[in-house]
Amino acid sequence: MGEGLGVDECVRRLKRFHYSLKRLHRIFNDRITAEPIYELKMGFSLHSFLCAELATGLRQRIGEMREPPLGLDVVPCEALEVLFDEIANAVDTQGLVLGLYGIVLPALKTEVEQYCSDTHPLADAPTRRLLRAGLLDLEDMTVYGAQVLEVLGLEGNQWSASLGKAWGGELIEREYSLEPRTFDGVPRRDERFPDPYNMGVNAEVFLYDEDMPAQAKTLMMFYKRLREIDVPEMMASIIAETEGKPWGYYRDMTRQLWDESRHAMMGEVGFAQAGVDWSRQVMVNFTWSLALNTQLNPKERHAVLYFIEQGLMPKTGKRYEWEVAKESGNTLSALFQDFDWADEVLHARVGRDWYLSQFDDSKEAVEYGDQCWSRVLMDWEKYREDGVSEHRNWWPDCYRAACEAKGETPEETVMAYDTSYKEVRADLRNLSVSG
Ligand SMILES: [Fe+2]
Ligand SMILES: [Fe+2]
Repeated sequence: MGEGLGVDECVRRLKRFHYSLKRLHRIFNDRITAEPIYELKMGFSLHSFLCAELATGLRQRIGEMREPPLGLDVVPCEALEVLFDEIANAVDTQGLVLGLYGIVLPALKTEVEQYCSDTHPLADAPTRRLLRAGLLDLEDMTVYGAQVLEVLGLEGNQWSASLGKAWGGELIEREYSLEPRTFDGVPRRDERFPDPYNMGVNAEVFLYDEDMPAQAKTLMMFYKRLREIDVPEMMASIIAETEGKPWGYYRDMTRQLWDESRHAMMGEVGFAQAGVDWSRQVMVNFTWSLALNTQLNPKERHAVLYFIEQGLMPKTGKRYEWEVAKESGNTLSALFQDFDWADEVLHARVGRDWYLSQFDDSKEAVEYGDQCWSRVLMDWEKYREDGVSEHRNWWPDCYRAACEAKGETPEETVMAYDTSYKEVRADLRNLSVSG
């Protein structure tokens, strides 16, 4: 117990963890949009968030131990910088996950464990507490990562071996990172999203139709939740393409991004419970993230997000969805909508802190968002003409499958629902996407 690390050595090691986590946060984030595999898209969202959270804790702890300037933006070691640049620039998913899950995360976890055993448990108790919690997340990430490598059949190769050496401090030669990588904002999806331009089922018109039964509406809300997969795809682009903000900005935006991924998975879980094979019976599109990422700059995208989300808080929007879910008797839907609404309260705060604060008055900020949103072109007719989607009305199949699973007879009016996004009702316009 007499031996332990001095403050200098603790800070040196913690800065190395901090730098690594910051780089991991961005590498995960920057791949969310273009990664087609659904589980990886969701996994990257979570892991980006977990890395940001631990980085935040470390910033705070380093700040407790040292006077400013803390040097948190300084690269602690050139070998490490090259290592992360190489992984960030990996040409495909295989290389990327091999670097992240095969090399860096297990090595980082081992080093954090080493720190916890090296440092004095009494003298450095605050850091140990922080890292013990962090290790739970690192453990989750490495377990998940090992499964990813196994499923994709990936094993260590020459490249990963050289990454391992770079982690150990050896300066390796740049292979992929001679040029900086440009962010790829075009969303990609795997085969479970076979009709990604389909705008054939207008969820909002159905949801706000008083003649439609609440039970069927819960199904439509699961669709709305799952469709939110396009929010992380869009938010990742804002985070990737906005430079020079305080750390708190990236942290908060990443938290929201992860929430939106959770919302998408709530939809998935809802369909699973309802007995609907969503990959065949629900056409989840990416038209919103595609349009925003390719037509607007990051500030304009944030403006649209803010504009849409501030429209979700009044009595249409989130409260209404929760009430419908409760009325339906579907307790899972009610639970999900309850949390969806609660998350939205946080997102409104994030919007106020990081979007609204850029304007002199809030009216101006909302108008700017409205303006940007009106410029976004999601051209129903053109998608059809170009042959990218027939906008097939998939709703009756989905609804019938849910009824069959429950042993119920489908209702005629619900089966007959056939309103697409060809024309979007003005009063439902900002509800026609999910935040
Ligand atoms: Fe959401
Ligand atoms: Fe949201």
